[in-house]
Amino acid sequence: MVVYRSAIFTPLADPFPSTELEGTYRHLDDGYLVVDDRGSIAGVGPWDSLPDHHRDHPVVRLSPDRLISPGFVDAHLHGPQLEMIGSYGGHLLEWLNRYTFPTEMKFADPEYARNVSAGLFDELLRNGTLLTLVFSTSHTEATNVLFEEAERRGMRAIIGKAMMDRNAPAGLIESTEDSYRGTLELLKRWGHHEILRYAISPRFAPTATQKLLHLAGELRQEFPEAYVHTHVSENLSEVFWVKQLFPDAENYVDVYDQAGLLGERTILAHGVHLSDEELRTVAESKTRICHCPNSNLFLGSGLFPLKSVLRAGITVALGSDIGAGTTPSMLNAMADAYKVQQVQGISLSPFHLWYLATLGGARALSLGDTTGSIEEGKEADFIVLDLSATPLLRRRIASAGALEDMLAALIFIGDDRVVDRAFVRGREVYARG
Ligand code: GUN
Ligand code: ZN
Repeated sequence: MVVYRSAIFTPLADPFPSTELEGTYRHLDDGYLVVDDRGSIAGVGPWDSLPDHHRDHPVVRLSPDRLISPGFVDAHLHGPQLEMIGSYGGHLLEWLNRYTFPTEMKFADPEYARNVSAGLFDELLRNGTLLTLVFSTSHTEATNVLFEEAERRGMRAIIGKAMMDRNAPAGLIESTEDSYRGTLELLKRWGHHEILRYAISPRFAPTATQKLLHLAGELRQEFPEAYVHTHVSENLSEVFWVKQLFPDAENYVDVYDQAGLLGERTILAHGVHLSDEELRTVAESKTRICHCPNSNLFLGSGLFPLKSVLRAGITVALGSDIGAGTTPSMLNAMADAYKVQQVQGISLSPFHLWYLATLGGARALSLGDTTGSIEEGKEADFIVLDLSATPLLRRRIASAGALEDMLAALIFIGDDRVVDRAFVRGREVYARG
């Protein structure tokens, strides 16, 4: 057992349904966090009410400019695209052909893949991301390497090999059968890990035949604990192309629905241009949508209609979508999510943003009972933020009045420098410097 004494902030409930924030978060100026030997949270509360039975444990007292928060959840990114961040010019389809596919072909070399994978998870931890949903390339061995590097660091990750059997260079597409077999092999290898999970990952409808999508749907039936991870309706040219490629489908979402790919463990990245009918299908099937604001701005994909998506009853997560997103920082994802709604007339509070980047993400990934907030009984996944990490942040925080001001300062001027330490299941997985 160990007791941390520190300021603590944690979301507790979804703040979106009403304007009433009370009860949706907890903030302790001087709090305790008890972590037991199994890495679970044995207690949390105000320091002056630390229960007697916890008083004999060693106490780690953090400095007054530290804040404990749940770790961040990045619900959509492409590991192999780490080294091509900021490849500018061109919208989605051109960007894929010009930069992405050539970069991803390099994952054929497992040594190269190991170097990038190690760099990826180091970057994520440096940014306080403790749970993430990751696209690999179509390379089975390189995907295995991604799993190994996540495992080595003790972080939570849901990873999947990109299933692709058409409309990409020969170095990335496989035969339908090989794509299925590689996925099956990885599912068997990683499908029952303590904290890692597998995501059946058809890249997106344009690079999959109907046959491959249906095989992915069969795998989902066979491995109900596995996730499904793909993209939908990110860009208008993509939507138009899907109409041409799947003339029998009602719409883009219907392509996945017909293949049996929708459900609570399915995460669709983007969903910027969904029709009302598609939103209904996504909601009825309990499928999740991951909003990636930085990427949507960088690729000029469009403005995510958060209000309509939430009104439809869909659970939303937040993602960096690196390498179309230009940073792994979930503080930045929150800042960009704010701006994307601002230009649509909606001002999200820091509480709403923090929820999306922590507990909301964990819930979207069906892990809300395990992680995403600092509550007794959950696993001790948390980060320690340094409120005086940079001169500007120190200055801004000094003038911050209310809690929301402090959170806003972190969101809008914070970056990886504010993440001091990170813990998964009570074990330190990152320490700055
Ligand atoms: N759609 C299909 N593949 C990709 C990708 O790699 N990045 C983004 N942003 N969208 C995609
Ligand atoms: Zn993506």
